[in-house]
Amino acid sequence: MLHRPAGSGRGARKDFYRTWLYAAHAGELEAPESYLTFSIFDQELFLVRGHDDEVRCFYNVCPHRGHVLVEGAGRKRQIVCPYHAWTYALDGRLRGARGVSGETGVDKQGICLSQVRVDRILDFIFVNLDSEAQPLHEFAPGLADQILECCPDVRSYRPANDKAKGFDTTYVCNANWKAMLDNYLECYHCENAHPTFRDMMDIPASAFTLHQNFTHQVAPTGMKAENDAFPLNLEHDVTVGQFWFLFPNTTLGQFPGVPGFYISRFDPVSPDVTSRVTTSLVPQEMPDRDAARRDALRAEWNVNVVSAEDRALCENVQRGMHQRGFERGWYVTDPGAHNISEHAMRYFHSLYRGAMDA
Ligand code: FES
Ligand SMILES: [Fe+2]
Repeated sequence: MLHRPAGSGRGARKDFYRTWLYAAHAGELEAPESYLTFSIFDQELFLVRGHDDEVRCFYNVCPHRGHVLVEGAGRKRQIVCPYHAWTYALDGRLRGARGVSGETGVDKQGICLSQVRVDRILDFIFVNLDSEAQPLHEFAPGLADQILECCPDVRSYRPANDKAKGFDTTYVCNANWKAMLDNYLECYHCENAHPTFRDMMDIPASAFTLHQNFTHQVAPTGMKAENDAFPLNLEHDVTVGQFWFLFPNTTLGQFPGVPGFYISRFDPVSPDVTSRVTTSLVPQEMPDRDAARRDALRAEWNVNVVSAEDRALCENVQRGMHQRGFERGWYVTDPGAHNISEHAMRYFHSLYRGAMDA
């Protein structure tokens, strides 16, 4: 079936300021008093684990005169503003304002850091700049249960903290963030554009299902220990990939191979540049003695082969979309043939249009 997409000319910023965006895995904030900074477009934020063990999110700005409060990541007993040294407890309350007494007209009781909503799917921490937003379990009902059903060990995995793993990368692609997600949300291109992936997978058996604000792809391998992508141990490795997309810009899942899990956020940098930030989770113990070797081979393949192929495709499409001869494209949708169908991508577009029109 072929359909023409409807056009949408407006930017993503409005939507990103009022939806759930992935910020960090709880394992990155495991230590007491740990914090990390991140941003949503031009809005700078930080997550911090308080002395009551709660993880909170604040705008990274001092209420006094607007100086940025913390940089990078680390641990702090309290937040001290670098400008005039006002101090804040880790729950955001003002603790001290140097030299400020009753006569200055500053009401110290009423001053605290500006807080941002935090919610979780399992151990994945999300934030939302809209204080009225519905909680995540209402926004994407069933997602947490589905992940646990498909990947029951995911909660025992920890952030890899190893940039060499391949999934722990921030990679910049010269394409619009939606073009990158379009590429993620269909496997129509897999047969043609990913020859080594095609050799490892059973692409016709791949299936996408649509849910409220998320999609799920089940992607079985062809159960070939030796294949053109990377070696699989059919006894210990994951042999059926599980890939989710959570609107608007989070992807997460379990890739075939040595057990593990990944979560990515696709950050629009500009209309034609996207930064994909990925956290990779690994089991605390490898399943067998050869697993580290297979894992390294997969990482190398991921970085140098399949991600490179997808990046080239997306950057090429970005060039194409600037061409005056390109209109709006076509959707190929056939719910009975998931290996060619673009129905998950089309669903993403309908969610996006709905969010823009709201
Ligand atoms: S701006 Fe932070 S203490 Fe003045
Ligand atoms: Fe791809």
